[in-house]
Amino acid sequence: MRSAKDFFRPLAVGAPAPVTEVPARPSRMIHFFDPSNEKMAAKVPAMVGTVDVLLGNLEDAVKADRKEAARAGLVAIARSTDFGEHTQLWTRVNALDSPWVLDDLTTLVTEIGDKLDVIMVPKVQGAEDIHYVDRLLAQLEARVGLTRPILVHAILETARGMVNVEEIAGASPRMQGVSLGPADLAADRRMKTTRVGGGHPGYLVRQDAVGGDVHAGRATYQQDLWHYTIARMVDACAANGIFPYYGPFGDIKDVVGCEDQFRNAFLLGCVGAWSLHPAQIDIAKRVFSPSADDVAHARRVKESMGDGTGAVMLDGKMEDDASLKQCLVILELAERLSQ
Ligand code: GLV
Ligand code: MG
Repeated sequence: MRSAKDFFRPLAVGAPAPVTEVPARPSRMIHFFDPSNEKMAAKVPAMVGTVDVLLGNLEDAVKADRKEAARAGLVAIARSTDFGEHTQLWTRVNALDSPWVLDDLTTLVTEIGDKLDVIMVPKVQGAEDIHYVDRLLAQLEARVGLTRPILVHAILETARGMVNVEEIAGASPRMQGVSLGPADLAADRRMKTTRVGGGHPGYLVRQDAVGGDVHAGRATYQQDLWHYTIARMVDACAANGIFPYYGPFGDIKDVVGCEDQFRNAFLLGCVGAWSLHPAQIDIAKRVFSPSADDVAHARRVKESMGDGTGAVMLDGKMEDDASLKQCLVILELAERLSQ
């Protein structure tokens, strides 16, 4: 898996080049909290070390009259918390056409830019949105003398963003990753769902009718509403060396559905998902870490493949250069998570 470290290069849009490299760090769960909610915010310090990413959310789900309080709350939390080696601090700023985003970016970079790892930008429509943020960040970083670049993460949640996903993923060397935003995307596409992510019982295929009776017991299989979108997002990210994420799963009580949705995304190439509730943290940790069996199998294939070329038979299955490459993906992930 490539990382920001492997492709870092001077900024494409005229800003001063970032001066340090940014190593990829695990981000299996991006745990959302509302910094305007004092009860929720008070729990943040205790979560350091238990989650890969803590994200102070300023956008949707924060009421319009609490936007300033959320921004100020995030500044206070960031200043008073040591996030250590294993937990990153991210934020989701308001949309680029909102009245709050300029103050979000200016205040956060100026006040806590040294603590912020990634800024998540919602409702990204095309490369021009990333160029705007990129340029502004470069100006603000230069003003306050930050030497470590703040990375950018785009949420894919408009039809236009979806059409432009490849150019968004490659729009700047700051790009860290892309998340699916299934709720906004469903609305923008005029899908007929009313949920935040996950499947729908009406989106199904049915076994063919046997004989004349079309109502006779025909099995149905629910389909994954998000398969096409996730697969496209994964290709765009992989082609640009950045990370794809499944986004939110809103039905907190449906831990089985959540785990299935996260696992489908993991198998398709995603590295993590959002967690909206503590119950989803363990799900994400479990799903987005390779299983002990997968790691053991990958090690066996690696050992049996010697110099990595040719073909061998293992348990009646052919392994070759290409299956070894898949195993190396698993081993690299296991290695990164063990650090
Ligand atoms: C997330 O922001 C979504 O719209 O699903
Ligand atoms: Mg959204």
